[in-house]
Amino acid sequence: MKIDSNAGIARNAPADLATEDPENIAAALQFLWDAKHTTISRRKFCNGVLLTSAGVMLAASTVKAKATYQYDSMMAYPPFRIEGAEKMMPGSAIYFSYPMRYDSAILLRDACGEYRAFNRMCSHVGCSVEFDPRRSCLECPCHKGAYDMQTGLVLYGPPPRPLDQIILQMRAGGQVWAVGKSVGRSNEVLAHLRPK
Ligand code: FES
Repeated sequence: MKIDSNAGIARNAPADLATEDPENIAAALQFLWDAKHTTISRRKFCNGVLLTSAGVMLAASTVKAKATYQYDSMMAYPPFRIEGAEKMMPGSAIYFSYPMRYDSAILLRDACGEYRAFNRMCSHVGCSVEFDPRRSCLECPCHKGAYDMQTGLVLYGPPPRPLDQIILQMRAGGQVWAVGKSVGRSNEVLAHLRPK
């Protein structure tokens, strides 16, 4: 797979997949979801399914058909570069605002070096979640709810549904851009959608 050094995308992918086209962003999110819920080993996941736009591009065409009905809660917003993301150490987090200035979000970099981002608003009554690096989760200080840092799914506590996920796009130079948002669905719905 060749990477375009200017755009950070696969050369053999359709050109429009590199844009902020909502349909392509949706395909990217489906790929992320698939990657998070398959049974491949974590090592293989780290080595082969990096959350780069290039990986997303290759997978996008294969997931398009089956993913359509999952896209109704996805929204594209103007791309926004997350300052400092490329310098983040594995196991760290930074806060930013997206898509609006008052929408607090968190960017996480896991031990594999992969990035994920979520809106910080707890789905219970709206407190802001905080990253707990010791437990590798996102905790809500108000009623002790907790979310998985990889998926945003509820681990325990009163939150009724996952965190809203920020859709990311990797660009040249290790830049990380926010390009959209996906509303977190109930854990039950996500379990139903999981590949058999
Ligand atoms: S507001 Fe987050 S657990 Fe209640």
